[in-house]
Amino acid sequence: MRMLFPDCADAVDPAEVYADLPGADGRPSVRLNMIVSVDGGTSWNGVSGALGGPADKALFQVLRSLTDVVLVASGTMKAEHYGPAVLPQTAQDARRERGQTAVPPIAVVSRSCRFDWDAPFFTAATERPIVITVTDADTDDRARAAQVADVIIAGEHDVDLTRAMRELGARGARTVLAEGGPTLNGDLARARLLDELCVTLSPLLASGDAKRIIAGSTLDELERLRLRSVCAEDDYLFLRYRPARD
Ligand SMILES: NC(=O)c1ccc[n+]([C@@H]2O[C@H](COP(=O)([O-])OP(=O)(O)OC[C@H]3O[C@@H](n4cnc5c(N)ncnc54)[C@H](OP(=O)(O)O)[C@@H]3O)[C@@H](O)[C@H]2O)c1
Repeated sequence: MRMLFPDCADAVDPAEVYADLPGADGRPSVRLNMIVSVDGGTSWNGVSGALGGPADKALFQVLRSLTDVVLVASGTMKAEHYGPAVLPQTAQDARRERGQTAVPPIAVVSRSCRFDWDAPFFTAATERPIVITVTDADTDDRARAAQVADVIIAGEHDVDLTRAMRELGARGARTVLAEGGPTLNGDLARARLLDELCVTLSPLLASGDAKRIIAGSTLDELERLRLRSVCAEDDYLFLRYRPARD
């Protein structure tokens, strides 16, 4: 991977480039990682996989290897057939040395709390998954979730994501890697919980009606971002932004 900004370098290690994430007050820091086609689509035929290439997939793994918890919305977890996080042994060893679990647990956000409880996401996990849901969810579904996952109740009808982040922090998480989808991202953005946006610009045109990175109602105010770094490989651009809140 080459770095184009803020410095120019022929070969950089993504694990070093992405090692820093600013702390957040009273909650874990939240980094969002998304891939988007040049024309702004986040999926093609319903999934994002075709947008990625080897360098993007490698970065996806590096970001997972750095985080305490992965956060995903139920729509993406189901559409992309999420299983538990899998990392190479070297990454697992490095995590243990840093005092982290060998792989990050995955927390899934759902209002309905309806899942296939026999899916590998639950049954093959070495780190117990986390289900973040609401009191409106059916009591039986919540009880079923508790058999295979840690359950966080954060809100009545919608998951209050600020509360959910605080709950994850209380369980020891200092960093959260959000992996979408756009609906969840919109809620994170409206709650001003996004501390870093990692956007991979994929050299593809997709067209169609795929959502943008952030979906849902318009923000009350435009959020100004600062460019943190730009890297490139195989015509893919790896952009990293942080909110200009200070
Ligand atoms: N390009 C990329 O990097 C990328 C990354 C991720 C996903 N994607 C694509 O994005 C698409 C899915 O995104 P999407 O926007 O349709 O759905 P999504 O955000 O993945 O999932 C929406 C679902 O998540 C739950 N949810 C989200 N916010 C919630 C809140 N505040 N409170 C309670 N529940 C909440 C609800 O689940 P329940 O229905 O269970 O209540 C809701 O129906 C897929 O096509 C996927 O391939 C692309």
